[in-house]
Amino acid sequence: MTSKPLSPELTKKLIDTAQTLVADDKGLLAMDESNSTCNKRFAALGIAQTEGARRDWRELIVTTPRLRACISGVILYDETIRQQSEDGTPLVEVIAAAKLVIGIKVDIGAKEFAGHPGEKITEGLDDLRDRLAEYARLGARFAKWRAAFSVTEDIPSRACIEANAHALARYAALCQEAGLVPIVEPEVLMDGVHTVERTSEITGDVLQAVFNQFHIQHVMLEGIILKPNMVLPGLSCPRQEALDVVADATVRCLAQVVPAAVPAIAFLSGGQSGELASARLNAMNLQFKSRLPWPLAFSFARAIQQPAMDIWGGKKANVIAAQQALFHRAACNRAARRGEYNAAMEAL
Ligand code: 13P
Repeated sequence: MTSKPLSPELTKKLIDTAQTLVADDKGLLAMDESNSTCNKRFAALGIAQTEGARRDWRELIVTTPRLRACISGVILYDETIRQQSEDGTPLVEVIAAAKLVIGIKVDIGAKEFAGHPGEKITEGLDDLRDRLAEYARLGARFAKWRAAFSVTEDIPSRACIEANAHALARYAALCQEAGLVPIVEPEVLMDGVHTVERTSEITGDVLQAVFNQFHIQHVMLEGIILKPNMVLPGLSCPRQEALDVVADATVRCLAQVVPAAVPAIAFLSGGQSGELASARLNAMNLQFKSRLPWPLAFSFARAIQQPAMDIWGGKKANVIAAQQALFHRAACNRAARRGEYNAAMEAL
């Protein structure tokens, strides 16, 4: 078996970045919605679906006072990494001044998986080497790729799991070659009636396939961050579960399949409310933190952004209140990393 190992300098750089992203009990803020997803969220609140409004929203986020006390880095969309703030400063400069590490979504979306109705394959590999080089020049130090798995009695298929795992490994290896830490996001979706047991089985299968491909394709495990779903029942499952059941199911599932060499696990929120996402992360850390090989952190989009976006509503007059709400969710999640979050924090 021949392979060209990463240089010691590159290896060190990747490990340092990965460690920086989860140091001091901080987490990541995902603000990398594609234009169409961002527009959908804006439309639901009557906010204009324009490039300017998307810029205003992202500028509001990254200029939130003291954000760096709780957030280590932000994940951007291609539009944002090239945009300028209202006063003409490149947003990447605003973000660097806020001392937030810059990440970038590099997949181009989950597309219909040929021959597999209801399933998706994430695309974006073809010119990825060149795009990563450009993003690195623009200031990015880490990247993100999301694979999404719908759940019914029959899916996800083995083919869908293996194809997405293969693509995640190709993406991760290219990122590491370019000096960017890959955030690896295989998401088992919440839509459906599936039980927590079924989510656990699928999440385990998916992660096993991903780490198998990482082994085959020589991805350096110390230089990635895993961004999985929590192990939850489907949204329409009649049996919803208590915090400690979710915490136990999630940690048990991860412990079976995530190698100890992985520096951190940073969960996605997946459509949970901000409060539930914090409470579940807290329950995991409270019960298991001292016994796990990897820190359990967060890389939330909706569970941090949504309450603030509801308050903002596209209006300048609401910017400060929205930033306070955003900071609050970030602070709750930092507390959850320590197992120190509680419902009383929400009353403040
Ligand atoms: P949510 O936390 O809203 O699931 O988003 C995370 C993310 O980065 C989606 O790709």
